[in-house]
Amino acid sequence: MIDKKLIIANWKNHPDTLDQAEEILEFTNDYLESLSEKKELSLIFCPPFIFLEDVARILKTSHLEHEASLGAQDIATENVTLTGEISGPMLSNLGTRYVIVGHSERRWKLGESDEVVNKKLKAVLQNGMVPLVCIGERVQDGNFKKFLENQINKTFEGLTADEVRRCIIVYEPVWAISTTPGAKPDTPASALQSIKIIKDLLTLNFKLLNLTFLYGGSVNSSNVGDFLKEKEINGVLVGGASVDKEEFVKILKVVSAISI
Ligand code: PGA
Repeated sequence: MIDKKLIIANWKNHPDTLDQAEEILEFTNDYLESLSEKKELSLIFCPPFIFLEDVARILKTSHLEHEASLGAQDIATENVTLTGEISGPMLSNLGTRYVIVGHSERRWKLGESDEVVNKKLKAVLQNGMVPLVCIGERVQDGNFKKFLENQINKTFEGLTADEVRRCIIVYEPVWAISTTPGAKPDTPASALQSIKIIKDLLTLNFKLLNLTFLYGGSVNSSNVGDFLKEKEINGVLVGGASVDKEEFVKILKVVSAISI
């Protein structure tokens, strides 16, 4: 379990230039530097691969060093040579500490199966990094519990309890992600119900307590406080709003004001 609220900035395939990426980081850095006391939040920046090395350098040479870590958005499955892929050793050698696996855009728009997600999850662990495992149903219908249970069983298949304990689990209902047509954020109450389903199944399968759960899906400065007031929600994964520097800092201001 983490003792600070975690804010993951999933930049997806944005911004278009390194200059714009630097602006987001500088703006965030200036805000964090302006705070008089240390806040109970921790950031993970997940830039596109092309900016990973520059972001690593900026994080190391700015105030962000104390508050932020480097994350990647994807990883190659282990033991395969594949054109265009980025391997676990490449990521960990750059100082990457976290890797997103199972993001719904990869599952549903790029056809990544549960089996591939499972292999990627293992690759993250084998390379000593922390998987940010996205779990979420596509539609909120009467079958969603079954859907979640099936996805969880396949995603975590073959892992030891100790390996599952090292994962951070992000509940991200696909229908709530801003890139899904007609998306609307989940409510904290309904997200908590789904988190409970995920937690109960992992507890049953792996005899685990104290897992770390985050929420993702249309998080912005107006709703982030409502999610993070819930003690079972240890942080948020922010997509679209994390590349809008003003909105991202607004989110951080709300989080800074919450005491945990
Ligand atoms: P969103 O994206 O915040 O833009 O909905 C979240 C995600 O897909 O990771």
